[in-house]
Amino acid sequence: MWDDIWIGGDIATMARDGPPYGAIRGGALAVADGTIAWVGPAADLPGPPGGLAARVHDASGQWITPGLIDCHTHLVYGGNRAREFEMRLEGASYEAIARAGGGIASTVGATRAAREDDLFAVSETRLAALAAEGVTTVEIKSGYGLDVETELKQLRVARRLGETHGVTVRTTFLGAHALPPEFAERPDDYIDFVCSESLPAAAQAGLADAVDAFCESIAFSPGQAARVFDKATALGLPVKLHADQLSDLGGAALAAGYGALSADHLEYTGASGVLAMAAAGTVAVLLPGAFYTLRETQLPPVELFREHGVPIAVATDSNPGSAPVTSILLMLNMACTLFRMTPEEALAGATRNAARALGIGETHGVLAPGMAADLCLWDIAEPAELAYRIGFNPLVRSIKKGISSV
Ligand code: NIG
Ligand code: FE
Repeated sequence: MWDDIWIGGDIATMARDGPPYGAIRGGALAVADGTIAWVGPAADLPGPPGGLAARVHDASGQWITPGLIDCHTHLVYGGNRAREFEMRLEGASYEAIARAGGGIASTVGATRAAREDDLFAVSETRLAALAAEGVTTVEIKSGYGLDVETELKQLRVARRLGETHGVTVRTTFLGAHALPPEFAERPDDYIDFVCSESLPAAAQAGLADAVDAFCESIAFSPGQAARVFDKATALGLPVKLHADQLSDLGGAALAAGYGALSADHLEYTGASGVLAMAAAGTVAVLLPGAFYTLRETQLPPVELFREHGVPIAVATDSNPGSAPVTSILLMLNMACTLFRMTPEEALAGATRNAARALGIGETHGVLAPGMAADLCLWDIAEPAELAYRIGFNPLVRSIKKGISSV
């Protein structure tokens, strides 16, 4: 006997092989113990639904998709950077603001100053906005603390958000995000500190599911990122990288060389980086909200990713500077309109491929027996509507491990 069964709706399983969206018209989906027990055409059910499950739900006129996965966010931070938005409109560049001590450094100040409970409260609001659009799994990075105490504070808040909001949170340690003021002009000393102090502390506290770094001229060199990756690897943690966002420093190939789960941003990635990612199975995480906010004109090499079979994910990059975004549906739209992805690719980017980017592709991101029962029910006539509309939220409800949340 199953716990729940949904009938009457159409199901976008997002299974990779098969029809577009893995679609099953007139489908049924059954859940037992928080896991998908059965999915297929309702006509193939082994008996009348009422005799198969304790609860039968009518999803007529709705589409069921996997719960959405936002695989790249910096959701936990203090303060905001609306003033920098104004400065960019007055002509200052993102890089110039960063070099003048604004940018990430200004958020570091506000995050260090924030009480843990206050940080939780402001972050909770942002998480609620994502969840309201069907996000059931979110990655949250540190990187606005840069000292041990504040990095751990951010990661604890991230874990607590997961425990209290019915959303799976995957944490990523991003100590190598920017150079903190106490290490001014001493980037190698700061990388020593990350490798010997803050990263081991986060790992030991069980607060890091993965390790990220920002490889860029305004952040850390490929050699410095590699040192962080060596330490992460020694600690048994998977890696990912902010790579080739503003220039091509070979970040994608560097990440692939470490078997990274993902390389993210990638506007300036060249063919050799794409080939290295393909060989390593590294997911390309595209962040159209940052592209849009920074008015970037260099497009990520989507066609090359397709050609070489690199899985593409799409995420919000939710952060106070380059992507003040709390809408995953808007990112699906931007992935299509700005990056020329198809609506099906965009949805796969926030489900199946996003799960892979977090190392949870065996259990999340696709509707199939044995996978987590994380679902969204949408009041839409076809799945492409999720990417097509702008500023419209057709979520009827989301289900986390079989339990209704929104
Ligand atoms: O992903 N690129 C580096 N980090 C963030 C931006 C952080 C910030 O501006 O506060 C990003 O775009
Ligand atoms: Fe980011």
